[in-house]
Amino acid sequence: MKEAILKNMAHMTYGIYVLTTRFENTINGMIASWVSQVSYDPPLFMVAVHPNRYSHELLTKSGHFALHILAREQKDLLSLFKGPIAREKFASIAWEDGMTGCPILTDCLGCMECRVTQSMAPGNHTLFIGEVVNAVFNEGKTPLCTLDYEGCYLGKE
Ligand SMILES: Cc1cc2nc3c(=O)[nH]c(=O)nc-3n(C[C@H](O)[C@H](O)[C@H](O)COP(=O)(O)O)c2cc1C
Repeated sequence: MKEAILKNMAHMTYGIYVLTTRFENTINGMIASWVSQVSYDPPLFMVAVHPNRYSHELLTKSGHFALHILAREQKDLLSLFKGPIAREKFASIAWEDGMTGCPILTDCLGCMECRVTQSMAPGNHTLFIGEVVNAVFNEGKTPLCTLDYEGCYLGKE
């Protein structure tokens, strides 16, 4: 990859979100920053997930995801969602089942549950587009983004 492309990639700014899924009795959560709104009406959001992620399998099978906006003060929460063992990710935090069955973190700035309406794989990530079917929002905090985070997600693998 050309140096200038890599530099540009590393200087893009994104929100940093927690993406959760459930298929049958299995729940999982991962950090996701390749996330975007793609429509106002209907409200559609896109998440780009690498096929190597365990969440990819759950998302493909269930057709639902929940996207959490974290507050800036919640940066430490990210470390919970880095590990490979799904049940450990939720062991120390409060959450409940959402309308779609996805785990919803009690403490977050906002959360949108989405039903996947389309997916495509134009490159090394699958783009899942989901329509919001349920949302909660808690006023008063600043959202966490890549400017608050050391390092960046380049999506190589
Ligand atoms: C700041 C940050 C942003 C990330 N963004 C994404 C992303 O948008 N898509 C993706 O597939 N992985 C992303 N990751 C990597 C996944 O969160 C990580 O591989 C996670 O362990 C996957 O969990 P799973 O395999 O249990 O689903 C990101 C990681 C970090 C630290």
